[in-house]
Amino acid sequence: MKKILGVIGSPRKKGNTHVLVSQILSGAESQGFVQDQVFLNDLHIEECIGCHACWKIGSCVKQDDMNILYQKILESQVIVFGTPVYWYGPTALMKGFIDRFVYYNCPQNRPKIKGKCAVIVIPFEEQDMKAVNPVIDFFETSLNYLEMNIVGKIIVPGVTLRGEVKNKPEYLEKAYHLGKSLK
Ligand SMILES: Cc1cc2nc3c(=O)[nH]c(=O)nc-3n(C[C@H](O)[C@H](O)[C@H](O)COP(=O)(O)O)c2cc1C
Repeated sequence: MKKILGVIGSPRKKGNTHVLVSQILSGAESQGFVQDQVFLNDLHIEECIGCHACWKIGSCVKQDDMNILYQKILESQVIVFGTPVYWYGPTALMKGFIDRFVYYNCPQNRPKIKGKCAVIVIPFEEQDMKAVNPVIDFFETSLNYLEMNIVGKIIVPGVTLRGEVKNKPEYLEKAYHLGKSLK
């Protein structure tokens, strides 16, 4: 069974990130994937404290909802990372989530993420792509470092209000087709 996990790093439900990630998941579902979606804001995810216990014992010392996500990631072939631009970076929710990927940076845990497909979704308000480049760089360098395989990006400028991306059918279609193209 193929699984796809959508991780929504915006605190805004029915917002632009949510709408776009959902489109990708629907496209993938049409190709036989089982979809799962999580809102980071609904979960309790503590900050990485850099103790590197994961290196020593293979697991994280923090007993929080990240354990649920480590398991969901393990079971999924594709992970969709969605965040709006917040001050030229990802949201703090998304950054905190990715910080906990230090867990995958040790030899015993690397196989749990290596080779998995990643899709990046980033809506933002400005029109100038300069606003989103630091967020794209953040994902590309971090996920490539972890030997993930970035298979698609949905980058949407010029959206501000909750769900405003619904007025841009070309992006909805692009997201759906990206999901449909996943193997
Ligand atoms: C705290 C905060 C910071 C933001 N910073 C930026 C920014 O630096 N550049 C930008 O283009 N948009 C910025 N935005 C706008 C959001 O990226 C935009 O509204 C996006 O569509 C929100 O996505 P969502 O509906 O999924 O939450 C910011 C919004 C908030 C709330």
